[in-house]
Amino acid sequence: MKSEITVQVDGITRQLTVDTRTTLLDALRERLGVTSPKKGCDHGQCGACTVLAGGQRVLSCLTLAVTQDGAEVVTAEGLAAGDQHAEGGLHPVQQAFIDCDAFQCGYCTPGQVVSAVGMLDEFARGWPSAVTGGTEAPALDRGEVAERMSGNLCRCAAYVNIVPAIQQAAAAASGVQRAAGMEVSG
Ligand code: FES
Ligand code: FES
Repeated sequence: MKSEITVQVDGITRQLTVDTRTTLLDALRERLGVTSPKKGCDHGQCGACTVLAGGQRVLSCLTLAVTQDGAEVVTAEGLAAGDQHAEGGLHPVQQAFIDCDAFQCGYCTPGQVVSAVGMLDEFARGWPSAVTGGTEAPALDRGEVAERMSGNLCRCAAYVNIVPAIQQAAAAASGVQRAAGMEVSG
């Protein structure tokens, strides 16, 4: 069975007809030519395919494209596209990955970056993780970052730099919020 869907991908409205069994990952990569989400395991195990759908991180290999009809999807490419960011249009998390040398082969990196953006938003909204405990204002320490990013695997084991990169991006975001007089959690 086929279905016509409309999805906004990285700010561009795209229309396509898909088999209802088509995953969002295959629709993005094979039908729309958006290749920043990577196919690592295709089974929800590695996080390389992570995208933001409706602002929340999802595994596109486990998401049927038809469920995203009318949705807004953002990939690592889309994060870089906004001209609201400094440093040549890079998102602060992308810049932090470069600053901290948080990758080797880079295959997992788009998924790591998108997942980190979603995770930092979850953290800012006060969502607890399995290691948060009872504290009302947890710090985004190594344990918190590792737990919250545990769905994103890196075969090159670049975690030693990925965690500091995410902490750097979080600190930069906090500085911006403080400068603007906004309340900051964590
Ligand atoms: Fe989706 Fe691995 S390709 S989780
Ligand atoms: Fe190679 Fe993560 S940088 S898999």
